[in-house]
Amino acid sequence: MKIFKRYTVTSALPYANGPIHIGHLAGVYVPADIYCRYLRLRGKDVLFIGGSDEHGVPITIKAKKEGISPQDVVNRYHEIIKKSFEEFGISFDIYSRTTSKVHYETASEIFKTIYDKGEFIEKVTAQYFDEEENQFLADRYITGTCPHCGNENAYGDQCEKCGTSLNATDLINPKSTLSGSKPVLKETKHWFLPLDKYEPWLRKWILEEHKEWKANVYGQCKSWLDQGLQPRAVSRDLDWGVPVPVEGAEGKVLYVWFDAPIGYISATKELTDKWELYWKDQETKLVHFIGKDNIVFHCIVFPTVLKAEGSYILPENVPANEFLNLENDKISTSRNWAVWLHEYLVDFPDKQDVLRYTLTANAPETKDNDFTWADFQARNNNELVAILGNFVNRAMVLTHKYFDGKIPEITAETDYEKQMLEETKKIKSNIEYSIENYRFREALKEAMELARWGNKYLADTEPWKLIKTDEARVKTILNISLQIAANISTLIEPFLPFTADKLRHLLNIEKIGWEKIGTEYHLKAGHALNPATLLFEKIEDDAIKAQVDKLLQSKKNNEAAAAIAKPQKQDISFDDFSKMDIRTGTILTAEKVAKTKKLLKLTIDTGIDKRCVVSGIAEYYTSEEIIGKKVVILVNLAPREIKGIQSQGMILMAENSDGCLCFVAPEKNIMNGGEIK
Ligand code: 2FM
Ligand code: ZN
Repeated sequence: MKIFKRYTVTSALPYANGPIHIGHLAGVYVPADIYCRYLRLRGKDVLFIGGSDEHGVPITIKAKKEGISPQDVVNRYHEIIKKSFEEFGISFDIYSRTTSKVHYETASEIFKTIYDKGEFIEKVTAQYFDEEENQFLADRYITGTCPHCGNENAYGDQCEKCGTSLNATDLINPKSTLSGSKPVLKETKHWFLPLDKYEPWLRKWILEEHKEWKANVYGQCKSWLDQGLQPRAVSRDLDWGVPVPVEGAEGKVLYVWFDAPIGYISATKELTDKWELYWKDQETKLVHFIGKDNIVFHCIVFPTVLKAEGSYILPENVPANEFLNLENDKISTSRNWAVWLHEYLVDFPDKQDVLRYTLTANAPETKDNDFTWADFQARNNNELVAILGNFVNRAMVLTHKYFDGKIPEITAETDYEKQMLEETKKIKSNIEYSIENYRFREALKEAMELARWGNKYLADTEPWKLIKTDEARVKTILNISLQIAANISTLIEPFLPFTADKLRHLLNIEKIGWEKIGTEYHLKAGHALNPATLLFEKIEDDAIKAQVDKLLQSKKNNEAAAAIAKPQKQDISFDDFSKMDIRTGTILTAEKVAKTKKLLKLTIDTGIDKRCVVSGIAEYYTSEEIIGKKVVILVNLAPREIKGIQSQGMILMAENSDGCLCFVAPEKNIMNGGEIK
């Protein structure tokens, strides 16, 4: 295995058009933070890079919707995001933004270098244009049906349902999101990155040299490469972004997915004069933490940009996660179906680690996973409180009770105590293996093992009983228990940094380096502990109910919002309409159709005749209540056989947003057979 001198760890730059939610945290920021904290604990030279992605159509759409400028949008959300990350303990070395001056210079320089090498294809192509808005329709300004999966709401650059990256011209039934109109094609010049030319190199680099990448990442790359790559436009006709830095490019900016990953480099430049060591030295390990929707951009497009530029290193690994759902439903900003970090921090101040723990224990590492508030409560009460908190508390309280809060001496060691260091060493090495292979769930489980071991040790040795007969043994047991607690304070540090601090405070010690864990006893006899306080508190049902209620309220609001009428259907001619013979009628008889839930068999007096109609309304009306009701019926609908019954016509019903149906009837008493015109 290659040994690296330093690490550059990046985490996807979130769009500054909304706050951070638990999906972002579980997918990207918590695992990246664990990785960086672990590396730092091991004394490695590591830079953890983050920042806001402030360009692209998601930002301009938000600005337009709110009637403010894109700069106002990004200023607002950049601050909210940055603050919530800080409070949550995401330990970035820098959290920058892509509207910074350095970023504009860096992105322009990289584009220019590739341009000067003649690597871009300059091409005039037909792009969609909204004639009403007088604007080209880049990316999210256009929606349509995905040609791969049939999703009717795919964007011009990507289908979020199947993850395919698209060109707007691939969409079936394209529609402008600005005016709703059907766009026209209009010629415009753009610069294309020739991914097809780099395909053989990408195949070798990923498929042969990086077989160790996570199966979901490797698989997605392989599927892309097997489909064959096409040149991709890296510029857009927009007025928000880094201007294309060549002549004849007025009104054109770099595509957000061209400039955003360069943001990692710009941020490093802002952080240190030695930035080139972190981006150009082969002894630097570059790792990108991202969510699965970003795989193609980080594994194929950005590496091609770096390769085409020529002086940069490439990522060693891109440990992308799958998605986190919330209470069995996809997290959605527009539907407000999310747990927002800044709100969590208000509702649960000082409980950062409980969320970090839950999101790691249940991380979507290999498949999509679900966050539920019930699981959050159970993880806290049954694991953090019952295992880790309980162990530390017992050791602390007993030491205060019997030995005045001072670490007692080891005076009567047995083989049991001797296992402790071995056990710690084993756990430490398991954590190392798991973290270095990006298996953070497994690593966290392992980190909790020492607390489990400690609990068992106390349960087996029962110092609270022994104190009456064998004080020497009790001294030893509590000394060893506190040594375990000291080791735990380092082993949990990458995952639960707030708890690690708290634990060190209880033990009244400084941070112990990773390499020292399992090698010696760190606490000297006579050392004074601080007073015993709880590491974790039980989370009561009320607090959980309040969160679930908040989500239910979102659901209600969504349902109310969905109660808007469906869009109008396509125009028809008057002739089409007059082909329908619609009459008033009266229900004479009604009975349930046997062995069905929804069907009623009705006899209707149509004024023309008395006929049988089978209607799917049994969910909304009982037979008894509708006899004698006036209805409106399409009488010349071709007869159909339904459950063996000839149905002659169709009763017209009105539908509510929840799918409920009700009759439509003439407002005055009209004869049976009256025509509806
Ligand atoms: O998907 C997103 O939220 C993008 N803003 C991620 C960009 S990652 C990197 F390229 F900056
Ligand atoms: Zn699709």
